[in-house]
Amino acid sequence: MSERGNDFVVVANRLPVDLTTAADGSQAWTPSPGGLVTALSPVLEAHQGCWVGWPGVADAAPEPFRTEAGVLLHPVRLSESDFEAFYEGFSNATLWPLYHDLIVTPTYDRDWWDAYREVNLRFADEVAHVAAEGATVWVQDYQLQLLPGILRQMRPDLTIGFFLHIPFPSPDLFRQLPWREETVRGILGADLIGFHLEANARNFLELAHRQGLEVRGEATTRDVTAHISLPGGRTVGVGAFPISIAAQDFGQFSDEDKRRVAQLRKDLGSPKRIILGVDRLDYTKGILQRLTAFEELLETGALDPEEVTLVQLATPSRERLDHYKATRSQVEEAVGRINGRFSRMGHPVVHYQHRGVPKDVLRCYYRMADIMLVTPFKDGMNLVAKEFVACHDDGSGALVLSEFAGAATELDEAYLCNPFDIESVKRALLNAVRALSDAPFTTTQRMLTMHEQVMSHDVRLWSQSFLGCLRITRTGTTSHAPDPHGKDS
Ligand code: ADP
Ligand code: G6P
Repeated sequence: MSERGNDFVVVANRLPVDLTTAADGSQAWTPSPGGLVTALSPVLEAHQGCWVGWPGVADAAPEPFRTEAGVLLHPVRLSESDFEAFYEGFSNATLWPLYHDLIVTPTYDRDWWDAYREVNLRFADEVAHVAAEGATVWVQDYQLQLLPGILRQMRPDLTIGFFLHIPFPSPDLFRQLPWREETVRGILGADLIGFHLEANARNFLELAHRQGLEVRGEATTRDVTAHISLPGGRTVGVGAFPISIAAQDFGQFSDEDKRRVAQLRKDLGSPKRIILGVDRLDYTKGILQRLTAFEELLETGALDPEEVTLVQLATPSRERLDHYKATRSQVEEAVGRINGRFSRMGHPVVHYQHRGVPKDVLRCYYRMADIMLVTPFKDGMNLVAKEFVACHDDGSGALVLSEFAGAATELDEAYLCNPFDIESVKRALLNAVRALSDAPFTTTQRMLTMHEQVMSHDVRLWSQSFLGCLRITRTGTTSHAPDPHGKDS
């Protein structure tokens, strides 16, 4: 296996698998959480590329290895103190809340910033080690914003793309960051910078303009028509590339799958309507707000506990951070309270599971659900909404979706709501429940329209359009960016 000489390298804080240790001390690789991994895994498999990232546990440095699907995984070691200062600290207690419009207050800590710089440098060393001459390196997300700049200094031969998987805030919020100039400089090391939405790209262009850089053109979707000129003469492209899922993998239901779906429904007591939530347990996701809306609808009798059941699957996330601990307590308290008030023995009205489920089981949950509740206060895209839609090729079901999820731009046939307004969530949920019974033709049309959108705008389109634009911005003949119309198309 060649460790050097990779023509296509993706670098993200996380590898697609975590090294986990069981109670008996045995170690295994298990899928790692989050939408970034969901989206990038099929892209890497199509390119047979190399993925540089952290194996999900402090102080572990396993040897590089190739997955069954042919992806070369190159682990990067983070020490316990990197984990605290770089990952929990700067990435998830500074940048995450700042970029999600201050849902909680970010902490600005100089030691965390030092760790962030140091870890970005380490990732750059690792990438420089595995990338072939003239290779394409695709840097992912907020944890690695300095990497493009460092890598360009080390390896000017590389074509470098950067994609941000979370929202990019308005310049007025971003300027809180004490290290704003360095951060923007780091990102500008890329040849092409991608965001989910044009609005995010506009925020970045405005920021660059305010920092005195020359900005030309307007941000568009799946194209690169906006450019930033840097003092040395280099030009950086900026565009919107809405991420998606491997839609085909979700939608195919065999007879065996359909039997599993029917069994799941039976296991839940065959309620008339099943409402589903699927999230990482994160304060941005608005899980408590949807439980509150559900509780109030039961309280007023608008929903009947004999007829409806809510299933909430919540993957553990960033569990040592205070805001995550508080969110978990609030959610679990609400689940207990709602069940205490409205359940019959043996028939809970809320089913709650605080762990991830395998993808094939998750598909069955999506298919089983009549209504999907996706209520984030702010979300870059939200792939859960697209996964649910992909599982409803028959037009069944309804999606309740926050206006503040990036997915709302594409899935505007959903029942949109404002999660900051409980009445709005209640209204959207009740409208969806009623429409399924009273206006089945309309709900079917709405779901089929969204299904068509998701199927025709899948993750392959995302990667092809980004990598195609990366070739164009790097221009000319020096680029080795994978051909978007080549073997992966
Ligand atoms: P984020 O990236 O913020 O976690 P997304 O909705 O974009 O949010 O992506 C979440 C991904 O994690 C989806 O692919 C979804 O299927 C997966 N996921 C979320 N919760 C669970 C769960 N409880 N079990 C299995 N997969 C989950
Ligand atoms: C979001 C972020 C990813 C991150 C994922 C899971 O999708 O955009 O970068 O990997 O959440 O979060 P975690 O902190 O567990 O990596």
